[in-house]
Amino acid sequence: MSRETSLTSSSHQHTYVRSVTEPEAFWRDAARAVDWIDPPSTILDATRHRWFPDGTINTCFNALDRHVRAGRGDRTALVHDSAMTGVQREYSYAELTRLVAKFAGVLRSLGVERGDRVLIYLPMVPEAVVAMLACARIGAVHSVVFGGFAAAELAARISDARPKVVIAASCGLEPGRVVEYKPLLDQALDGCDHQPDTCVIVQRPQAIAALGARDVDYASLMASEEIPEADCVALAATDPLYILYTSGTTGRPKGVVRDHGGHAVALQWSMTHVYDMGPDDVMFTASDIGWVVGHSYIVYGPLLAGAATVLYEGKPVGTPDAGAFWRIVEQYGVNTLFTAPTAIRAIKRLDADGELRARYDMSSLRNLFLAGERLDPATYDWASELLGVPVTDHWWQTETGWPVTASLRGLDGPPGRPASSGLPVPGYEVHILDDDGRRLPARQEGSVCLKLPLPPGTLTGLWNDEERFVGSYLSRYEGYYLTGDGGFVDEDGYVYILGRTDDVMNVAGHRLSSGQIEAAVASHPAVAEAAVIGARHALKGQVPHAFVVTKADYTGAGQDLAAELTALVRRDVGPIATLSRVDVVSGLPKTRSGKVLRKTMRQLVDGEDAPVPSTIEDLSVLDDFRAALAQRAVPSADTSDKE
Ligand code: COA
Ligand code: AMP
Repeated sequence: MSRETSLTSSSHQHTYVRSVTEPEAFWRDAARAVDWIDPPSTILDATRHRWFPDGTINTCFNALDRHVRAGRGDRTALVHDSAMTGVQREYSYAELTRLVAKFAGVLRSLGVERGDRVLIYLPMVPEAVVAMLACARIGAVHSVVFGGFAAAELAARISDARPKVVIAASCGLEPGRVVEYKPLLDQALDGCDHQPDTCVIVQRPQAIAALGARDVDYASLMASEEIPEADCVALAATDPLYILYTSGTTGRPKGVVRDHGGHAVALQWSMTHVYDMGPDDVMFTASDIGWVVGHSYIVYGPLLAGAATVLYEGKPVGTPDAGAFWRIVEQYGVNTLFTAPTAIRAIKRLDADGELRARYDMSSLRNLFLAGERLDPATYDWASELLGVPVTDHWWQTETGWPVTASLRGLDGPPGRPASSGLPVPGYEVHILDDDGRRLPARQEGSVCLKLPLPPGTLTGLWNDEERFVGSYLSRYEGYYLTGDGGFVDEDGYVYILGRTDDVMNVAGHRLSSGQIEAAVASHPAVAEAAVIGARHALKGQVPHAFVVTKADYTGAGQDLAAELTALVRRDVGPIATLSRVDVVSGLPKTRSGKVLRKTMRQLVDGEDAPVPSTIEDLSVLDDFRAALAQRAVPSADTSDKE
C-alpha cells in the first residue's frame, strides 16, 4: 500500500505548518494523488473560495475506473453484509464499475443530464452505492435521504432539491419490522410542490411495492439490453457532486453542497494520512449512507483509495448480538473500523466483559475511529482495552465533509488525549473566539471557529441559498467559518469539543434540530407553546425532551398527551426523533425579549448548576419548571437509560 514510511510526529507538525502557511503548494501536491482530465493550473480562487477552479475531473472515474485500468479490477471494492436478510456478497472493482456504468446509462435514458438532481432514498443496499456513483459518472447531483426520516422530511428535501428522478427501495428493514418506503415516498410526493419525472424502485422481497404510472423497476432497467452503459464525463472540479441535507437551528434542513475536485483530493488525502488506509485495505464504517460519515467513508473515501468498503445493513447489537461488528472484522479482515460512540456504548452495555469479542480473530484491525458525538472517557477506555488498538476520537460535521481534528494515524501523529478530539488536521486552522471575535487563550471556552479559507472538500455553499450560507456560517465572525460547536484548546493545541452552542441536538449520532421536532409537537391542538431540548442520555448521548404549555381550555381528560405527541413526532420527523419524555409546564422560561432560555433548560434537565439569567422575564416560571422536572410529570414510553 502507498503508506508514507519513516514519518514521525515531527512530520505531522511539519505537514500541518506547511498546510496553513503554503496552502496552495500543499494542496497542489495532494491533488497529484487523484487523476485529472485537465489538471488545475490555479489551485485556489481566494475570492470565491473555490479549489482547483480550472481543473476538470470525474469522481466516479477516480473511485472505480482508474483502479480497473491499473489492473486491479479483480480486487474487492464493496462487501455487502446484511444481518437483516443474511445476504453476504462481494463486488470487485470491475463488477462495480460495470453496474455503475449501466445505471448511469439508465439515468441518461430517463433524461438525466449534467447538473440535474437525483434523490436517493435507499437503505443499506448495494444499489445505493451504485446510484451515487452513477450520478457522479454523468455529472448528476445526488441527494441521499436517510431512511429513518418521515414523509414530511423527505418532502422538504424533494421540494428543495427538485430532482428529475427519485430512486427508492420498496422497503427498509429494521429489527422486528419492515419499513415500507414506497408509501412514504408516495405520501411525500402527494404533499410536494415538485414532482420528479420518474421514480426508480428497487424491489426487495420483504415488501414488493405496487408500481404507479411514473414508477419503473430498477432490476428491469438494469436488465434492458437496449440501454447502453455510460462513460465518465468531464466535469469542472467546482461542479456539484452532491447535496446532503442536515439539521440547522430552524426546522428547515440545510442542503450542504460538495464539489467534485476538492472533495476527491481531500478524501484521498484523508484516507492515507488520517486513516492510514490504502489499496487492498478494508474499511468498515458502521454508519448509514444517509449521513455524511456514510458518504465520505462508506462510499467515496475507501473507493478513491482503492480499498474495500463494507456496507453493513444491521445494528451493532441485536442483529443478532453485540458481537456483530467483531464478526465482520474477522470475516472480511477489516483494518479500520469507524463508528459512533453510541454504538460502542450499546455493545458495552450488553457485553461489558468482552465475551463476544473474544470469539473472533481480530488481528487484522489496526484502528478504531469514533465520531458523530462526544466520546466519553469511559467508552474510550473500554474500547481501547477491549480492542488493543489505537482508538481515535475525531471531530467533524456534514459541512466539513472530512475530519477537522484527529490524531493522524497515517502520519504517525501524536496520540490523542482523554476527552479531546485531537489536533487540527492539516488544512484546518481552529480558533476559539469569544463573543466579540477575540481569540481566547488556552483552556478558555468559546465558539469553535475555522479560519477561512476552508480546505478542499468542505462545503461550497447551501443549495440555492447563498444568503443562508453566509448568514449561518460566515457572517458571525469576519474571516471565519462558525462551526456551531463550543469548546477550547489546551496548551499543546489539542481541541476539546463541549457541544453545540445552537439548537442542534445529537441523538445516537443522528443530528436533529429542536425546531424540527418543536414544529411537530406544536401542531397538536392542545399545545399552546413547546420547547424541545436535547437531554443527556447514557446510551444515545442526547435524547429529545419536550416541554409543553397546554392551551387554557385543555383539560387532558381521557387523553394521553405524551403518547399523542410522541406519535406526532414519529409521523412528522421520524422514529429517530422519538421523544424521551414530555413535561407539561405552566410556561417556558424566557428572557424579557421573549427568547426561550434553552441553555438554562438544558442545564436544569441535565442536573447541572444553572445560574438564573438576569434577563429572565418571570422567575416563577423557572420555579414551576424545576417542580415539573422534580415530579417528572408526564413520562413517555422511553424513559430508560436517562442519566
Ligand atoms: N430507517 C427506518 N427507521 C430507522 C432507521 C432507518 N434507517 N434507523 C433507525 N430507525 C428507527 C429505529 O428502528 C427505531 O425505531 P423504534 O423506535 O420503532 O424502535 C428508532 O428509529 C430509533 O432508532 P435509533 O436511534 O437508532 O435507536 P435504536 O434503539 O434502534 O438503536 C443504536 C440504538 C445505538 C444501536 C443505534 O442508534 C446506532 O447504531 N447508532 C449509531 C448511529 C450511527 O451510526 N450514526 C452515524 C454517525 S457516525
Ligand atoms: P453531523 O453534521 O451530523 O456529522 O454532526 C456534526 C456535529 O456532531 C458536530 O457539530 C458536533 O456537535 C458533533 N460531533 C461530531 N463529532 C464529534 C466528536 N468527535 N466529538 C464531539 N462532538 C462531535
